[in-house]
Amino acid sequence: ELKDNTIIIVLGASGDLAKKKTYPALFGLYRMGFLPKGVHIVGYARTKMDDAEYHKRITAYIKNPNNDPEVSAKLEEFKKLSTYISGGYEDSPSFANLNKHLEKIESSYGVKERNRVFYLALPPSVFIPVGQHLKEQCYVTPDVGKCRIIVEKPFGKDLDSSRELLGALKQHWTEDETFRIDHYLGKEMTKNLLVLRFANVAFNAFWDKNSISNVQITFKEPFGTEGRGGYFDEFGIIRDILQNHLLQVLSILTMERPVSFAAEDIRDEKVKVLRAIPPIERSDTLLGQYVAANGKPGYLDDDTVPHNSVCPTFAATTLWIHNPRWEGVPFILKAGKALNEAKVEVRIQFKDVTKGIFKDISRNELVIRIQPSEAVYLKLNTKTPGLHTRAIPTEMDLTYKRRFAEAAIPEAYESLILDALKGDHSNFVRDDELDVAWKIFTPILHWIDGKNGPAPHPVSYPYGSRGPKELEAFIGKYGFKRTVAE
Ligand code: BG6
Repeated sequence: ELKDNTIIIVLGASGDLAKKKTYPALFGLYRMGFLPKGVHIVGYARTKMDDAEYHKRITAYIKNPNNDPEVSAKLEEFKKLSTYISGGYEDSPSFANLNKHLEKIESSYGVKERNRVFYLALPPSVFIPVGQHLKEQCYVTPDVGKCRIIVEKPFGKDLDSSRELLGALKQHWTEDETFRIDHYLGKEMTKNLLVLRFANVAFNAFWDKNSISNVQITFKEPFGTEGRGGYFDEFGIIRDILQNHLLQVLSILTMERPVSFAAEDIRDEKVKVLRAIPPIERSDTLLGQYVAANGKPGYLDDDTVPHNSVCPTFAATTLWIHNPRWEGVPFILKAGKALNEAKVEVRIQFKDVTKGIFKDISRNELVIRIQPSEAVYLKLNTKTPGLHTRAIPTEMDLTYKRRFAEAAIPEAYESLILDALKGDHSNFVRDDELDVAWKIFTPILHWIDGKNGPAPHPVSYPYGSRGPKELEAFIGKYGFKRTVAE
């Protein structure tokens, strides 16, 4: 349920996340009429500025390329309910000041109930002090209203540091009050996975090791880490994409049917399947780093990156699930920066048909394209029409643009902020889920970090390529076969 008279406080209001994602999503929700009645938005950051300057920034954050008058009018309204207050992240008086500001807004509501949602669009170095000060200075007790906190990765760098961070936040915020964002859970196609899997008897029938040969979950971005090199070098592609975004997709793809769609039922099943995955082996890992090509700089050409960095900007890792449904099926997660295209997809490859009747027949594949251009398609062999029997690979194609031409696909952050406002945890990461995700990745991360010996050297791949040339053999090793026509 949406709670009337909620204040949404964006901490880190002048930062990158706020600018690129939080404000556009808040405005999108407002424009579509999804924010609660009497909502206020309070920006908070260190930068000193007045409301007028803040409103100018909000205007710059919101895209309205065609000067659509409806958008402009809504934006004026949106600005009226947005105010700004500056303050530090580590000192208690700043938060006392923020609280006064919130109380002033709340006194204008004329009702007792006070609801506050704190969105931490902040670097992880201040998560702990901010969590503490918010609780001490800005918390309203449950008898008066509801307080919630939204946080986003990085949640630590390995199992121990994640536990430390979660533990510190838990001293002040309960699991019920905490919403940990993994924005891949807010993507339309990720949400559709639940429907595809559990609202279709047909899919269920072939969803296991008896029919499936291998699964790839792939993330490709056509740009490098330009401008973010400093951040990226500390984390690397595995912490940036695989351990969270791709693993989340994997867990929904492979979990057993939840008892209901209630948040805890779904998350129980996700945790269960993740617990059946042992830590990734070094031999199941391929690491890459991009080098200058096609007029674009290499990873090491970035001034903010140490010149001898062995940080991977590409990784392929194969995970195994030890349960009766999935034993022996390789799940290849791969992600890379500075590749030839932007694409995120799940590719489920089925086994060969029994030999004998057909020669050179392609395998069936079910592809779920998460972005761009959301689609689900099934590669099938079909007889070419005519007076002969020849099978060729073709597709049953559900491309959203064609099937749902009119429908606007919501932004992941819109969907997630709305869920948090409603108090629905289904698409947020639970504490135990995070823990088990770190267990799977921590040993290879420590190896890559050079914690227990020399760090491995990633192989190189050219900026704008399909990835390291070693990739083809890597996926081949797990049984992936190209379509015959390809
Ligand atoms: C973020 C990563 O979590 O996800 C970025 O830190 C990456 O490196 C981004 O670019 C990708 O998100 P999307 O929604 O564009 O696929």
